[in-house]
Amino acid sequence: MENNNENEEKPLLFTLRRFHLSEDYGFLLPNPLSELPAPYGPWMEIANNLPHLIQSHQLRSQVYKMPQLSSQHLKGHRELHLAHLALSFITMGFVWQEGEEGTVKLLPRNLAVPYCEISQMLGLPPILVHADFVLANWKKKNLNGPLEIENLDTIFSLPGGESLRGFILVTLLVEKAAAPGVKAVVQAGNAILQPDKEALHKALQEMAKAIKEMTDALKRMHACVGFLAHGSTISYCLAFSLRWKDNPAMPGGLIYEGVSDEPMSYSGGSAAQSTVLHAFDELLTIRHSKESTAFLHRMRDYMPPHHRAFIEEIQSAPSLKQHILSSGNEKLRIAYNQCVSVLADLRTYHIAIVTKFIITAAANAKAKKGKESHWVGSLQINPPSSLQERGTGGSGILSFLKSVRDTTRAGIIEC
Ligand code: HEM
Repeated sequence: MENNNENEEKPLLFTLRRFHLSEDYGFLLPNPLSELPAPYGPWMEIANNLPHLIQSHQLRSQVYKMPQLSSQHLKGHRELHLAHLALSFITMGFVWQEGEEGTVKLLPRNLAVPYCEISQMLGLPPILVHADFVLANWKKKNLNGPLEIENLDTIFSLPGGESLRGFILVTLLVEKAAAPGVKAVVQAGNAILQPDKEALHKALQEMAKAIKEMTDALKRMHACVGFLAHGSTISYCLAFSLRWKDNPAMPGGLIYEGVSDEPMSYSGGSAAQSTVLHAFDELLTIRHSKESTAFLHRMRDYMPPHHRAFIEEIQSAPSLKQHILSSGNEKLRIAYNQCVSVLADLRTYHIAIVTKFIITAAANAKAKKGKESHWVGSLQINPPSSLQERGTGGSGILSFLKSVRDTTRAGIIEC
């Protein structure tokens, strides 16, 4: 029922600005910096040259020679984000320079101390996360040009050449396509509070449209990421997913020298750390299995605090599904179901992508294991031993993703 009592206090409206989000960029960091102030030259020189330093096995020696720099000259969140991005990439290369069998147990003080200081200031863990790898790792070639793949480049990279670049930039385009959907989440939240059925209907339609556009953007993975019959192209996934938690190659975790004498364990980057689908799931009241929820919620610890707060705000708001069920409004039910249906379709498409680029590629790489070294040309060949089971409670990547897709579809409101 509409509330016409003007004296009654209206609940606080939901805005993107409260969560440092923009209408155009969604969760992407708008126009990230690609240069740090002069004192940080030693970090930037190494970070800008990582593929070469890793492939020529020189990165570790360069890192040991780095001066111990303080984080105190960094100003504002954009410099902090770039510094986190640079140190995350350097750390990944440092740990994995010699592949799975040659990892290190200790991150030296000159890298670990500023890395942990900056991580603490940003509220991020000291490991490469989606917020670094994709959200803050982009620049326009022509500043006045569009946010299109032809006009984009990554700031830093790891061995993986064009495939890694394509993987990062297509994921960025998926995040960009989600931006109107993120705005629609806010509009839907406010339409429930007001309440305004027309505005809610429009917001749900906008959200469904954005999700379809995310699937279209995801399709570009085929053209932008190479797939070689021998599985070499899984390098880009591996580069991103390197981690020191539940990883047989680093059972004890990693000691951050000068920070803690005890090893610390962190999950590696994953687009499961993207806030977009968490936000859509919460708005649509999608309930995943206990095991999947545990993994997905753990991924929230790897998001920037404002993004996490955005999800929490949706969680604490009145339930959209309950609102639609109690309204008995057929138009709203159809619009809601359309959102659920396209979200499940997006997840189905993602499963096909994962099957092609990880499962099949890993099987091919396994067949070749032992015949080639871990860095071949610009590409890593051997899959990590835990690839099939990573982070998903042992249920395997595909059964996890299928379960999440099926529980999404189960959200449909039957008439
Ligand atoms: C070649 C491209 C991709 C590969 C190989 C890939 C791989 C994976 C894998 C292995 C997982 C399981 C969780 C984990 O182990 O971390 C996962 C989960 C996930 N990925 Fe991707 N991914 C790709 C692209 C994307 C893109 C572009 C997005 C969108 C931003 C995305 C969003 C997600 C989400 C949200 C999850 C959590 C499961 C869910 O909510 O459905 N992925 N991905």
